Amino acid sequence: MDTEFLNVADYERLAEQALEPGPYGYFAGGACDERTLRDNVDAYGRWQLRPRMLVDVSEVTTETTVMGAPASMPLLVAPTAFQKLCSPEGEAATARAAAAAGTVMCLSTLATSAPAEVAAAAPGGRRWFQVYVFKDEGITRALVDQAVESGFEALVLTVDAPGAGGRRERDLRTGFEIPAGTGVPSLDAAFGGRSVTVSEAFAAMDATLTWPDLERIAGLTELPLLVKGVLTSEDAALACEHGADGVIVSNHGGRQLDGVPATLDALPEVAEAVEGRIEVLVDGGVRRGTDVVKALALGARAALIGRPVLWGLAARGEEGVTGVLELMREEIALALRLVGAPAPQAVAREHVQRAPH
Ligand code: FNR
Ligand code: LAC
Repeated sequence: MDTEFLNVADYERLAEQALEPGPYGYFAGGACDERTLRDNVDAYGRWQLRPRMLVDVSEVTTETTVMGAPASMPLLVAPTAFQKLCSPEGEAATARAAAAAGTVMCLSTLATSAPAEVAAAAPGGRRWFQVYVFKDEGITRALVDQAVESGFEALVLTVDAPGAGGRRERDLRTGFEIPAGTGVPSLDAAFGGRSVTVSEAFAAMDATLTWPDLERIAGLTELPLLVKGVLTSEDAALACEHGADGVIVSNHGGRQLDGVPATLDALPEVAEAVEGRIEVLVDGGVRRGTDVVKALALGARAALIGRPVLWGLAARGEEGVTGVLELMREEIALALRLVGAPAPQAVAREHVQRAPH
């Protein structure tokens, strides 16, 4: 057993040592007072597990399906930008580790590796493409075309960053900015082959987008479309009505609007509004296998992790991402066994309760 890396927190400690304070603050930080950032994690402590005894757990599997295809566990890799600022191999390393772990990797629009490069790094892996919509539909189209050509199997439309990131005060204090020359090849290609800065990219995004536009965006490809950043029952219902194939309950890891609910607290109302019509996923603050089981109990098909993957990548490159995914898988398997649910689908609402204090 690797006693240096027993849990996700161990990876974060090493990542903090490995990274300069500027990039570390960018990856770790959230918006304003970081209430939501902290609450995403704390919310998991406000729910307890209700384990059922004398259930046959002689064979426990973490295997499931997500969006109609197999995944080795109900835990996926969330889209996070600029992974080459964590480790030179960047998204290619993450893709290889996710593929080896048998789970889905979602690639950010603001990735430092091109969709084709990521596909080539892990040809057998499942991959989704996170998309931001641009005022110029030609740019959006050029982006999604790259994803389609490279075998990405779903689009993830992020709706909680309408043309702007949140107020990240750690970055303001350290003076961190995405270094000039940090290439985003997919965007550069979509902008006609010139180098695009991050602020330019955000300024070119379409903040006029409303729910009826969902059909148009879904119509750009044949791929299923998930909406990422839903926090209310109202928006969950609208996502269903406008043809979304899945929703991801997310507050962007507490990086956008500070003061919104922890995602685990928003999950039940979203799941209830969706009424099983489409799959509900959740991200934000997932750090333990027991967290994943709590998310499943409250209506998620699967959870995603953002920062834990970045900590693995910064600490040890591809091996670190593999380490994080494998330790999470072991924790999920153990949590399923001890809660008395031999498979992810066996987890039900009865397996959790509100903590009394
Ligand atoms: C993100 N996230 C994000 N989301 C997205 O849709 N597109 C993006 O480019 C990014 N970029 C990004 C960068 C960094 C440094 C972080 C930490 C996060 C949000 C991400 O997909 C996910 O919602 C959160 O990271 C989940 O929270 P945890 O697991 O980091 O707590
Ligand atoms: C972030 C943007 C890039 O969270 O999504 O930093």
